Amino acid sequence: MTYYLGIDIGTSSIKVVLLDAEQRQHGMASRPLSVSRPAPGWSEQAPASWWEAVDSAISELACQQPDKMAATRAIGLSGQMHGLVALDGQDRPLRDAILWNDSRAGAEASELQNRYPEFARIGGNLVMAGFTAAKAVWMARHEPELFDKIETILLPKDYVRFCLTGKKISDMSDASGTLWLDIARRCWSEKLLDICGLGLLQMPALVEGSEVSAILLPELAQKWGMTSEVVIAGGAGDNAAAAIGLGLRNPADGFVSLGTSGVVFQITHGFCEQADKAVHAFCHALPGSWHQMGVILSASDSLSWLSEIAGQPVPALLAQMRPEDNHKCWPVFHPYLSGERTPHNDPDAKGGFFGLSRRDGTGDLTRAVLQGVAFALADALAVLDTPEEIGMLIATGGGAKNDYWLSVIASLTGCKIGVPENTDIGAAMGAARLAMLADGHSLAHICTPPRLSHIIDPDPALAASLQPGYQFSQTLYPLMTKK
Ligand code: XUL
Repeated sequence: MTYYLGIDIGTSSIKVVLLDAEQRQHGMASRPLSVSRPAPGWSEQAPASWWEAVDSAISELACQQPDKMAATRAIGLSGQMHGLVALDGQDRPLRDAILWNDSRAGAEASELQNRYPEFARIGGNLVMAGFTAAKAVWMARHEPELFDKIETILLPKDYVRFCLTGKKISDMSDASGTLWLDIARRCWSEKLLDICGLGLLQMPALVEGSEVSAILLPELAQKWGMTSEVVIAGGAGDNAAAAIGLGLRNPADGFVSLGTSGVVFQITHGFCEQADKAVHAFCHALPGSWHQMGVILSASDSLSWLSEIAGQPVPALLAQMRPEDNHKCWPVFHPYLSGERTPHNDPDAKGGFFGLSRRDGTGDLTRAVLQGVAFALADALAVLDTPEEIGMLIATGGGAKNDYWLSVIASLTGCKIGVPENTDIGAAMGAARLAMLADGHSLAHICTPPRLSHIIDPDPALAASLQPGYQFSQTLYPLMTKK
């Protein structure tokens, strides 16, 4: 039997899964990560913390499963998208990585957007503050002495690939989120790089997600007890990887992800630009395939925030929600704690609770958070190009274990939601599948949908009860923003 590793560099943790060629899971190791927020709106991580976490998690699996590790043939990588990792001439990070949910580059994003229509035309997307291009221009303006020393720009999972292989390579899906990719032609755009004061030489080479990108360094193979040459697949940005893990291949296929961010994702018929609505139109992780996404910045992160300020763990908060209040729609919560992308594109958007009463407790605030995130996801789904084509959204991410949350989303969007038997299937699984594809397995055999434990249908009564809160939320939004 041969074995495969899938590595996902998340925002709150890294996760490594060990699968056999029949996709049975033989091991999983994870390590927590922390985010530093040195100024309002900033969100950073040290690239070394990703590598230490990956090395430690793989070492744990190597210790637990030496025989399976010895027979490992390929590794796939997935990761949080858009992070700016700037390396100097000695390949050392010049500063901590600026992450996807960092909103400092709002002014730079608007300026690029207003002055250069090329970003929508070639890059396929609105210039948003979280995208790598805006952050690089922020660095050029605010840290020019560091910007001038940039030898290479990498994305988070590609920094880990560099540690694994010594090679600087990215894949099409993750590279799409830099805004320097020509999305239709699947190559770097010299024009878009030039606008940001950068050039092709500073960019990694590109491969498709399912292709071989490089070979694991022999010293690491030896350290982890791997006996044959181990290839590293191109891999994917975490959402494209999750789509591979969930077997999404056709335009009727979609998923809803309730991780730190919230995502509604759909495969598209081809490259489908919808920049004016802040829809993300990206290359998919398979050759000749594209997808679209609506992304909200604080999904489970809104719950983590509430848990921090209430001083209670998330499960304790969820346990305080009273089932008899499931149809109540007050108070209303705006989840814009780190600004928002789809459909608002406003890095300065702010969150809030509205319509509080003296009787409300933490259970009511928790219900409002789940509903507010669902309102935002419904807004994001509504602006996709062809949401009516989606047959069913598969649920993924930590929030996929919460049927009430999924039922609110199903009722507001009108989409059925499929809940996998194993809700932990996601980006790491997709990364392992890309490793199998790079090792020659067939797409039809590997990229299959998960077994579902149940399907959640839209509930018209719940949708009707939540309408006043949803409409209030939408009416309030423009009053809460400076735009
Ligand atoms: C996608 C995005 C987030 C991150 C989170 O555009 O920014 O989903 O990839 O990991």
